[in-house]
Amino acid sequence: MNFYYSLDTIIMTLQIKSLEAYKTIYQKSVEKPEAFWAEQADTFVWRKKWDKVLDWEFKTPNVKWFVGGKLNITENCLDRHLEERGGKTALIWESNEITGTTQKYTYRELHAAVCQCANALKANGIEKGDRVCFYMPMVPELAIAVLACARIGAIHSVVFAGFSAQALADRIKDAKAKMLICSDYNRRGAKNIPVKQVVDDALTMGCDSVKTVLVHKNTGDSIDMNALDVWWHEAMQGQSTECEATEMDSEDMLFILYTSGSTGKPKGVVHTCGGYMVYTCFSFKNVFQYQEEDVYWCTADIGWITGHSYIVYGPLLAGATTVMFEGVPTYPDAGRFWAICEKHKVNQFYTAPTAIRALMAKGDNWPEQYDLSSIKVLGTVGEPINEEAWKWYEEKIGKGKAPIVDTWWQTETGGVLITPLPGITDTKPTYASYPMPGVQPILVDAEGKEILENEKEGLLCIKFPWPSMLRTTYGDHQRCCHTYFSPFKDKYFTGDGARRDADGRYRIIGRVDDVINVSGHRLGTAEIENAINQHPQVIESAVVGYPHDIKGQGIYAYVIVGEEAKNNTDLEKAIRAVVNTEIGPIAKPDQIQVVSGLPKTRSGKIMRRILRKIAAKDMDKLGDVSTLLNPEIVEEIKKGRG
Ligand code: WT7
Repeated sequence: MNFYYSLDTIIMTLQIKSLEAYKTIYQKSVEKPEAFWAEQADTFVWRKKWDKVLDWEFKTPNVKWFVGGKLNITENCLDRHLEERGGKTALIWESNEITGTTQKYTYRELHAAVCQCANALKANGIEKGDRVCFYMPMVPELAIAVLACARIGAIHSVVFAGFSAQALADRIKDAKAKMLICSDYNRRGAKNIPVKQVVDDALTMGCDSVKTVLVHKNTGDSIDMNALDVWWHEAMQGQSTECEATEMDSEDMLFILYTSGSTGKPKGVVHTCGGYMVYTCFSFKNVFQYQEEDVYWCTADIGWITGHSYIVYGPLLAGATTVMFEGVPTYPDAGRFWAICEKHKVNQFYTAPTAIRALMAKGDNWPEQYDLSSIKVLGTVGEPINEEAWKWYEEKIGKGKAPIVDTWWQTETGGVLITPLPGITDTKPTYASYPMPGVQPILVDAEGKEILENEKEGLLCIKFPWPSMLRTTYGDHQRCCHTYFSPFKDKYFTGDGARRDADGRYRIIGRVDDVINVSGHRLGTAEIENAINQHPQVIESAVVGYPHDIKGQGIYAYVIVGEEAKNNTDLEKAIRAVVNTEIGPIAKPDQIQVVSGLPKTRSGKIMRRILRKIAAKDMDKLGDVSTLLNPEIVEEIKKGRG
């Protein structure tokens, strides 16, 4: 193997240790970003060093990091650790079983498993550049196969296994995936979910690009094996546990991850090899202040970006021990998370506000039953955390000793951009706080003018590239440009509103576009409306988010229905069923209100602002409705809100 750095010359990625260091490093990172990131990138294994650190302009956009560099990210996640920590536990898997089955992989074992899987993928026709779609539960084989793709330069596209057959088919078709990897059944709490059946259904929906379905036997319950299906264990049989990594360009695609936007069709966010590697490792080490002996646990699903960056890539790049959990927070009871923290002596625990709120509602007696003294850092991500939940988390889980890192980032940003650094910068409830080194956030007004004063609210943009930013939206570069780079000149637009306090801390207020955040799951209102409109009795619909105690935001649907629906007592159920089929259970409306019309402007645009206020029962200040095409409808809708 021809590494640019020999293994013993590798220095570790920078870990900031003090407030002074943070300030100095931040300053340097914005004054000389290329020099700063080159130093960080130098701590990785490259087959060939880059010719140029950064090439960029936001107009098209065109962003390239470590231009001309050659590498394979799995050599950095696995091979380079073998000498120093080959026997260290890389992955701890905690199953859904109440008996608490655990599996552990050392770095050496994980390396072997990934290589073996990579060889099996090759034997089944997968080559560099091919897309491989995943529809898997949280089992080690998911992480292994994701890394196996990266090993051979195949592009992974993990689809959260709660999506419907239709949603899965849409994503397979968009990526033209050549292979689909799934399990027979997924375990989720007390239920076994027949996911292979979902895959079979999806494949009847025009997924012609798929040549092989690799099926992992998870529960062993009976399934149909069809013409394209190959059992995982059979595919692995006889495959070598060594596999030379494929040399990749820094800017070759590493993965696609679909996420919702303000139009109906989910977009495939594309991340590339070099920059993503550097930033996820750098951010992991700093945000969680990971130390060599620590055990780190992120409760996310690998179907979302959090799982990609902070269960798989970030921790493994940093040589960490990462916990992966198959189950749910409340099964068999609301003590499950804390039992696992105690069992594995978890040092860094990273979860979502919705889980914190749900567990808080179950009472303090659950965390009180467990020894949580190992916890040093608590993290949250995915949605704004309310002060009550923040304080509960700090007191009942962290016992006032573990700083909370409220990490703000997005599928598109690849890694955490705004966050406190635990023990280094201060924390303030509900504030994501300060930018990471190399990250230059700004607030702008609706015209795109930068808001320079503090204690102001505005639209959150980033004015300079960072290594793990999205490069394109798969198959539609125009859309990437239009969504993120056209709204404001020379800036990346996040879609979030934020406030900056007197000390320069950022507080994320929430989405300002038609995206809602339900239990940390990002959904486009247009996507849900399209689904609802599939119901034959629905004429038109408008979906908005409204405050929900546990989920953060709930889904409120206003629907106009035809005459024939007036006697349909099962209408609500039927609408939810349609959404379930089109997208999946996460998108089912919490509340459905039948209306005779929707408030519209004279140009025919639905006034969502009014609908949002009514759904939130915030009806006093609806603003001027007289300019509407149909102002009278507002009273009717208000009455119907109840
Ligand atoms: C949106 C991105 C990043 C991984 C999980 C979500 C919201 C994310 C926070 C936070 C307030 C947050 C934003 C963002 N969000 N983190 N700490 N505080 N809001 O990734 O599905 O791409 O969603 O989640 O609105 O734009 P995603």
